[in-house]
Order: sequence, then structure tokens, then C-alpha cells
Amino acid sequence: MTTDKQPTLDAYNIFDLREIAQRRLPKGLFEFVDRGTEDEVSLRNNRAVFDRIRFRPRTLVDVSKRTQEITLFGQKQKMPIMVAPTGLAGLMWYEGELALARAAKAAGIPFTIATGSLTSMERVAAEVGGRLWFQLYMWANVALSHELVHRAKDAGYEALLLTVDSAVAPTREYNQRNGFSIPFKFNRKNVTDVLAHPRWLAEVLGRYLMTSGMPVYANYPAEVMTTITAAARPVGRSMMKCEPMNFEHLRDLRRIWPGLLMIKGIAHPEDAVKAIDCGVDAVIVSNHGARNLDHSMAPLEALPAVVDAVRGRIPVLVDGGYRRGSDIVKALALGASAVLIGRATLYGTAAGGEAGAARAIGLLREEIDRVMALLGCNSVAELDRELLHFTDSSFDVPAFRAPGADWALASA
Ligand SMILES: Cc1cc2nc3c(=O)[nH]c(=O)nc-3n(C[C@H](O)[C@H](O)[C@H](O)COP(=O)(O)O)c2cc1C
Repeated sequence: MTTDKQPTLDAYNIFDLREIAQRRLPKGLFEFVDRGTEDEVSLRNNRAVFDRIRFRPRTLVDVSKRTQEITLFGQKQKMPIMVAPTGLAGLMWYEGELALARAAKAAGIPFTIATGSLTSMERVAAEVGGRLWFQLYMWANVALSHELVHRAKDAGYEALLLTVDSAVAPTREYNQRNGFSIPFKFNRKNVTDVLAHPRWLAEVLGRYLMTSGMPVYANYPAEVMTTITAAARPVGRSMMKCEPMNFEHLRDLRRIWPGLLMIKGIAHPEDAVKAIDCGVDAVIVSNHGARNLDHSMAPLEALPAVVDAVRGRIPVLVDGGYRRGSDIVKALALGASAVLIGRATLYGTAAGGEAGAARAIGLLREEIDRVMALLGCNSVAELDRELLHFTDSSFDVPAFRAPGADWALASA
């Protein structure tokens, strides 16, 4: 597979892009993106878990015709990844959501826009297009959330992702220390922070102020739309997350949403099975990038049991901590159909807008390709658990034998 003719930005892996993002963004904003919740046990584990799985490669396989293309929901896509929803992506770069969406479209992968984005779903559809997914938070005022669902339908969105791991707001103490709050309020700490990053001030915030004004949550219904600095209008608790949300809400969504429906943020296999009963088209194993519940299992740890419970009835997607092509290959070998990418493409966007997001995706593409070749695999379908070695027994992976793997019997 050839490499893109994309600028390197002096970044040779996702960690380099992260460093550039760290230099460019105000500290409060960078930490909002980069960090987790409470003691960040889950955040560390989301990454550490990849070190507990090693590869057992096959050799002397002709890999000259390999491809990482997959077919998902009846459509071919060039890579086994998609862009995860991330609120406030528009603060990484001026109109960062459009930059990210363009990079995803160019790479032939779906882009998910978050409820809390600064660019409206209609604008992304009109100005970028491509395969577009919409992430939904269920608000206490359910009718307002349903309004967004109808808009996503009218704007031609392919998929709706209901986030189910966010019943209440998480603890993120560093945001308080940094003076970074939502709604954003100017104070001495964060003003000093922003002034110390004049490039971001001029090229991102300044450009918004010179053009459209203070950024707004562009997907919010008109009666509650606010700038990122204003408290929600006096609509009471309507913008709060919906604490009573349950499987009935999912059934209701199934009734009003004709497109692909997924739930994002499960770890328990039984929740996956119950969601299938409600008519979802896919489940996404996720702990919200370790931003909500500390000590939650890494999605990679939760994945095998979910895959086994689902028994191929619907695709199982996963996200959380993916920074290398080898990470993605491990998830695919454990039975994921594809991987959502959150921070990696955000770092890219912060480092260089569309070119930076494209660089992040391009790096992952090259790494996936190289790992597949070195594993002796020509297609994603060939990736299975036989190629993995677990360094400890805590991984919840039932004994697995690939169909036709009779070598084990022959050597027994
Ligand atoms: C800055 C930021 C904002 C996020 N906002 C949302 C959101 O609005 N809705 C949602 O479902 N997930 C949100 N997420 C979680 C991502 O969709 C995804 O689950 C997570 O980032 C995956 O982990 P990774 O960042 O390590 O790839 C956000 C993540 C980040 C980093």
C-alpha cells in the first residue's frame, strides 16, 4: 500500500501529534482533551492493556495483495476505523469539525459529529458530505433530543449513536484547577493560559470572534442554543443528561430513527444482548475514553465477552486508547468489526487542521498495513485470536480455535 502525499508535520506517530497539540493548545483545553477522570486509572489502563497482548505471527504467506478495506453495514470502507464523536472538536482548530470531517471523507471512513459540536450537523452534511454519523445525548427533556434525531434524518445522516455511559457529569478536577469549565467562564487563570498561546488565540478563538462570534453549540435546538461561554438558557434542567434513561428510550429511538442505530459505551455482554432485542444495528464497547467512570474496564478487556455474546448478529465496534495500528489490529483480531478513533485525530486536528487529521489517519493506515503484512494477513477477515498471545490470564478470552485450525490436533 502506498503512503499518502501528505505533509508529515514532523510527526511520525500519534504521540508526536499529541506533543504538537500540547504546544499549540492552551493548557486547560489540552488537558480537557488529553486527560481522564478522577485518578486516571482507566486512562492508563486503556493504553497499558495493549501491552498485555502479543502477536503470534504467521510466516511464509504471500502478503503482496493485502488490503485493510472492510465491508461494514453493507458498504465498503477503506480502513477499519472511523472518527469518534468529540464535543468541542471545533476548538482544536478554526472550524475543526469541518477539518476532521474532510479528512475522514478523503480517507474513505465515516465521521461522527457530536451533539456538543461547534458546527451544526446540517453544515457538515452540506459542506463536506461523506459518510456521516450523529452522536446523541439523551437530555432530561427527551423531546429536545428527539428534535435532533429528526434533524439528523432530514440532513441524511447514515447512523445515530446513542451515548449510554454518561448518566451524570464526571469528575474532572484538573478542569477546575485550570479554570476550564463548561460553560466557559473567563477568569485570571484561563485568560493567562490563553494569552500564553497567542497562535491559538489568533488562529482559532480570534478567527471565530472576527467571523461568526463566540462559538455556539451549533446542534442545540434554537430555544436552548448557547455560546460556549453562556450558561444554558433558563430552560431548567432540560440540558442535563437524562438520569432515568433506560432501554425504553432506546426502543423509542428505534421507532423514530430509520437509519443505523448504535449504542456507544457498553462493557457488559448482557447489555449488548438487550440492545439487540431493542433493534440496534451495532454496539460500541467504550468507556468514553476513560473520561467518565474511573476503574472501568478497558474496552479491549471487555470486548471478547461482548463479541461472544453477540454471536455475529450485529457488528461490535470498540474505542478507547487506540494510538497505533497494532492496537487496532489487536481489537480486530479479538472480534471487533472496526475501531473508533477519538483523541488521535483530535491531536492531529489541533496540530494541523485537516492536514493534521489526515496525517493521524494516514499514520494509522500505514501502521495497520505494516502490522498486517508482518502477521501474514491479507485481509481483516484473516485476523483472529490465533494470532494473539495473552501475557496474563485475566483477559476474558474464551478458548478459541479458528475454523479449520486442525494443526493443533495434528500436533497433539
Ligand atoms: C475531547 C473529547 C470529547 C468527547 N466528547 C464526546 C461526546 O460528546 N460524546 C461521546 O459520546 N463521546 C465523547 N468522547 C469520547 C469519544 O467518543 C471516544 O469514546 C473516546 O475518545 C475514545 O478514546 P480515545 O480518545 O482514547 O480514542 C469525547 C472524547 C474526547 C477526548
